[in-house]
Amino acid sequence: MRRGSIASLLGIGVIAGGVAAAVALAVPWLPVSASKEAGRIDFEFWFVVTICIVIFAVVAAAILYSVVRFRAAPDDDSDGPPIHGNTGLEITWTLIPTILVTAIGITSAIVLSRDDAIAKNALHVDVVAQQFTWTFKYPNGLTSATLMLPNGRETQLRFQSKDVIHAFFVPEFRENEDIVPGLKTTINVTPTRLGTYPVICNELCGLGHATMRSTAVVMTQAAFDKWLKAQGKAVTSPNAGTAGAAIFKNNGCGACHTLTAAAATGKVGPDLDKLPGEAQNAKQPLASFVRTSIVDPNAYVEPGFPKNVMPQTFGKALSKQQLDALVSYLINSSK
Ligand code: CUA
Repeated sequence: MRRGSIASLLGIGVIAGGVAAAVALAVPWLPVSASKEAGRIDFEFWFVVTICIVIFAVVAAAILYSVVRFRAAPDDDSDGPPIHGNTGLEITWTLIPTILVTAIGITSAIVLSRDDAIAKNALHVDVVAQQFTWTFKYPNGLTSATLMLPNGRETQLRFQSKDVIHAFFVPEFRENEDIVPGLKTTINVTPTRLGTYPVICNELCGLGHATMRSTAVVMTQAAFDKWLKAQGKAVTSPNAGTAGAAIFKNNGCGACHTLTAAAATGKVGPDLDKLPGEAQNAKQPLASFVRTSIVDPNAYVEPGFPKNVMPQTFGKALSKQQLDALVSYLINSSK
């Protein structure tokens, strides 16, 4: 009798655990893992999932067995026996969770401290978040709207926000970090897989939050060095036309604005293909209208668009030369 009960409890437990394990393993719940740090976080994730599956199997077995075995007869209205606790059982179900939670705490601490340890040859990239765009700054002074990373090399991302709270998230790197104005936060990424991955703002930061996206490109160290060199040249190039286009792209203007010349399709701010008409609405000459709109965006806001959405920091962030190049690029592109 007793042996039969244990056998059926075990049987139900194995089936319930098997079903849960099949659901966990057969469905691709996670995107590919593309960094060393992601590998460690995935280990922790599966460690916790395994514990959960075992607990689920035990609980499911106890419940299903009890429902069938101790089912009351239809005409049985009597109370159950007055049981006052079981010390052995209570110690067991306190001790086991204590051990499991402690194990999860210790392994998590190890994973976090390994992910936070900086390698000596780490590359440092400053990540600037602002409504609603990302800028990545490299040690040689180069800025990019795309996060370029060399494969296999540890990169420390150092975050700063120019306005409100944002959050940096690349699902394939498994790391999410809040970016709070006035606070310096960092994460380390050691890419292990070539490819292109989405950079997502993971904190509701205003009207254009959903469009605050960029791309992380993991390339070979050789390709990365080549890119860094080529971009360095483009920045110092005296050609105002390409400089203006690069400034437009690298400051993320396309996240909010439409501009056919830059293949930008943002809808948060006014359509920059229609700048001449907008200057007419503002009753200003085109060149000074474009300049003022960048430096002091609230001076005139196109009807139908809210105030205070365009960052007021661009005017300070750009040198006079860069501003001139951007203004002439916008004027020439909108005609
Ligand atoms: Cu930045 Cu959401």
